[in-house]
Amino acid sequence: MTITDLPNAPAAAGGLTVWPASTTRLPHGGLAVGGVPLAEIADRFDTPAYVLDEGEVRGRCRTYRDAFPDADVLYAAKAFLCRAMVRWVHEEGLGLDVCSAGELELAVTSGFPPKRIVLHGNAKSPRDLEAALRLGVGRIVIDSPSEIARIAAAVGPGGRQKVMVRVVPGVSAGGHDKIRTGTDDQKFGLSLTDGGAQHAVKRILGQPQLELTGLHCHIGSQITEVKPYLVALRRMVGLMARIRDAYGVVLPELDMGGGHGIAYRPGEPALDLTALARRLRAELIEGCAAARLTAPRLLIEPGRAVVGPAGVALYRVLAVKHTGDKVFVAVDGGMSDNPRPALYGVRYAPRLVSRTSAAEPRTTMVVGRHCEAGDVLATDVHLPGDIRPGDLLAVPVAGAYQLSMASGYNLVGRPAVVAVHEGTARLLVRRETLQDYRSRDIGV
Ligand code: LLP
Repeated sequence: MTITDLPNAPAAAGGLTVWPASTTRLPHGGLAVGGVPLAEIADRFDTPAYVLDEGEVRGRCRTYRDAFPDADVLYAAKAFLCRAMVRWVHEEGLGLDVCSAGELELAVTSGFPPKRIVLHGNAKSPRDLEAALRLGVGRIVIDSPSEIARIAAAVGPGGRQKVMVRVVPGVSAGGHDKIRTGTDDQKFGLSLTDGGAQHAVKRILGQPQLELTGLHCHIGSQITEVKPYLVALRRMVGLMARIRDAYGVVLPELDMGGGHGIAYRPGEPALDLTALARRLRAELIEGCAAARLTAPRLLIEPGRAVVGPAGVALYRVLAVKHTGDKVFVAVDGGMSDNPRPALYGVRYAPRLVSRTSAAEPRTTMVVGRHCEAGDVLATDVHLPGDIRPGDLLAVPVAGAYQLSMASGYNLVGRPAVVAVHEGTARLLVRRETLQDYRSRDIGV
């Protein structure tokens, strides 16, 4: 089973494979998500709007809990965080991975237990560490040698903080160069190959303020194969055995990070979660038995696969331009709410959702409204030839790394976030307004 094949998915049956499972077609040609017509959401909350299907997020959390019953599943907040997400993942029994004081404080002030939070970051600011220690974060993942003394000093005499070490296992995987983090040619972690990781472990073990609970690795993102995880796990177990041999310490935890790939368009591959769970477990048991090591508790940190497919971006068409043989459909959002096509060349499958059209489909480029030619949302998509200003377009699989990477470009303002669930829609995050900009801009 892949996580896109959630059971009882009527959406999949209707040719809407990458849409939330609750998606249904309406008689006039529109779509409803979570029982709410998208056109109604546009009327009520305006566009652009990001629609989050609460049932889909919760269902995905449960799929993880079921697939990994003996592991700790931590939701990677960087994919998307708001107070409702904090509540949903907590209620579904997941922990949280954060990488800044901002994510951490939002989670804790929304009621998330700090002990179930892991703090990451290749360059943690004094504010990040201060918040982590003040709030009592469960684990801090050490990413560079200079953090060891820094954290120990901040903890102070008599205190003790649980930490892990981020290891670079030398495995290359991931959907794009910018999101491959498993090899030594990038900024994260401590190298397995040059001995940096083991040296850091030795130093941490010498610090009474630090309790080393285990090792961490995150090899990349948008990975659709199980194999790289198995290779990484084998290397991590090897390092754990060497640590036991060298220092007599058996580490109780192993965090294999996230990176689980999803389909953005029908027909694209997704990581098979059940296979990942089964084969990781088997590899762990086998590898530990061979090294005569007590198997550590497994942690995983999925972000995209929890929230990505639960989100739909909803835009109004503002302009349609025919230039030579090209058709440009310009909408009221763009790279300020979704920089992913510009950054990673990612392709999406938008759809007309406000009416039916019998017009012949045409190859279209969906572009944003920003002052930049690279402001493209989707290339080579087939949309009805009669698409016109006022139509509504919706982009599925919009829940991860879109709003969390949104910018203030052109002062367009970040979109509203609307939750849908069992036939009702409610505003989670309001649209950013001129007033918001004005209140931050205090100079003259
Ligand atoms: N754990 C760590 C330490 C991470 O750095 C990340 C993602 C995750 C877990 C979650 O990975 P996921 O399951 O979401 O793939 N902006 C890029 C993705 C960057 C991923 C950064 N780290 C994108 O839009 O594709």
